[in-house]
Amino acid sequence: MTSRPSAEPSPDGSLGAAGLRLAVGGEVATVTLARPERRNAMTPATWRGLAAIGAGLPPQVRVVVIRGEGPSFCAGIDLRLLSGEGAPGEEGLVNPGDPDFEQAIARYQAGYLWLRDPSIVSIAAVQGHAIGAGFQLALACDLRILAEDAKLCMKEPALGLVPDLTGTKPLVDIVGLPRAMELCLTARTVTAAEAVALRLAELVVPAAEFDAAVSDLVAALLAVGAAPARATKALLQQAAGHTLQEQAAAERRAQAALLRRRASVPAGPPPGSP
Ligand code: ACO
Repeated sequence: MTSRPSAEPSPDGSLGAAGLRLAVGGEVATVTLARPERRNAMTPATWRGLAAIGAGLPPQVRVVVIRGEGPSFCAGIDLRLLSGEGAPGEEGLVNPGDPDFEQAIARYQAGYLWLRDPSIVSIAAVQGHAIGAGFQLALACDLRILAEDAKLCMKEPALGLVPDLTGTKPLVDIVGLPRAMELCLTARTVTAAEAVALRLAELVVPAAEFDAAVSDLVAALLAVGAAPARATKALLQQAAGHTLQEQAAAERRAQAALLRRRASVPAGPPPGSP
């Protein structure tokens, strides 16, 4: 099970410099990738900023929407970091020869992993391109709503890389191993229509209905109580790794904990005790 990262939240100013915007309204947080002139290309500061948002999310937040400003959801890593040109005002990527290299990737991944925390439901609202690190961000979310013009591409292998921002597991879980291989090893683009067929999107809507569809989904999620929603997400997340018997036992435990918490009844003695 994943949990929110423990990093300190960034002050708003540093989020802006990382190409991010955060708006929290009651139980909903909206994270906007906000560098449209670069098609929301990402840098280490973006990933750090995402991790900081996860770490500092107010406890009342139940739904997190990730959006991209402008024509693209996200064009992936800022290619100037790969070319060596570097992005102005940005640190570069960690050198692969650095002993800290894998730890640095772990810190980048922290920007993605918190989106699976059972205390929230995360939604990627994808219009236009979601490429590489951007596609992986959409995969890091629990649910994906696509505008009809959405295009998804796991570009990393074509650039001499592996996808390393937590995207390979959800991709395999959703589309299966053969299709995941085909998508990654050809680095081809998946249209919104194909994304639905592959279960990479819960919903595809015309651009004109996109914002309303996201709002409707958020409202539907909030209509279910916080405690049962959180307990049910945690339960569903365990199912794939469990046998039927293990999952049935997990359901019993979750129900008991939920209902006892609601009634403030302490847990009884273990079975067989006098
Ligand atoms: N890194 C840095 N700059 C970018 C990136 C990127 N990933 N993507 C777009 N930009 C810049 C362009 O250089 C251009 O800058 P300019 O106005 O100074 O020339 C501006 O954003 C607009 O880009 P266009 O290509 O003109 O926009 P368009 O809407 O026609 O196309 C698209 C968008 C399809 C996303 C295209 O920009 C693209 O293919 N980008 C590269 C995608 C990519 O390969 N990403 C790496 C994936 S691998 C990974 O993430 C690890």
